[in-house]
Amino acid sequence: MSQVKHVAVLVGSLRKESINRKIALALANLAPPSIKLEIVEIGDLPLYSEDIDVTPPAAYQTFREKIKASDAVLFITPEYNRSVPAALKNALDVGSRPYGQSAWSGKPGAVVSASPGAIGGFGANHHLRQSLVFLNVPCMQQPETYISNAGTIFDDGGKLTEKTQSFMQTVINAYADWVLLQSRTQK
Ligand SMILES: Cc1cc2nc3c(=O)[nH]c(=O)nc-3n(C[C@H](O)[C@H](O)[C@H](O)COP(=O)(O)O)c2cc1C
Repeated sequence: MSQVKHVAVLVGSLRKESINRKIALALANLAPPSIKLEIVEIGDLPLYSEDIDVTPPAAYQTFREKIKASDAVLFITPEYNRSVPAALKNALDVGSRPYGQSAWSGKPGAVVSASPGAIGGFGANHHLRQSLVFLNVPCMQQPETYISNAGTIFDDGGKLTEKTQSFMQTVINAYADWVLLQSRTQK
């Protein structure tokens, strides 16, 4: 049996009651034994500046170490003004430096976007993928995961509705396969 792969999960919302955070936690519970999901917090990262990175703040260093120590990265995000929330873009930027020492390169990735609206964060999802191409994060292509009407996917007890849970299971199983495939390919 191969070793469990550790997945760093980045949630694009800093809101306590975030739907995307709840989705992240639900996916962590649904994950097959081959992968283990853990949220890496991004809310305490100072806005990226090359000036402050001359002497990197502790928050930058800790974040970079956590991403480097992970085997894979999973992004779960809302859409802000048809794009990636600033906190998540900032985390991408922090992890991409110092130049030539990006924490992201080669980590198998996937993007899940969720919105109470009708198009499920499609704009954020694809803007994020644009950065991930440059950052050399090979992204799972299918199933594409745009969760629309996301305000309705949890029941009163906070559990995913049956239909959504079934889809989420498909997503996380496919992602686990993707992580293992990429890990083998990169050896
Ligand atoms: C600054 C801002 C911009 C937003 N822009 C969009 C948008 O472009 N598309 C969309 O579907 N929802 C948009 N929303 C609504 C979010 O999808 C909604 O607040 C969602 O619940 C945020 O995700 P969360 O529950 O994980 O915090 C926006 C919300 C904020 C605060």
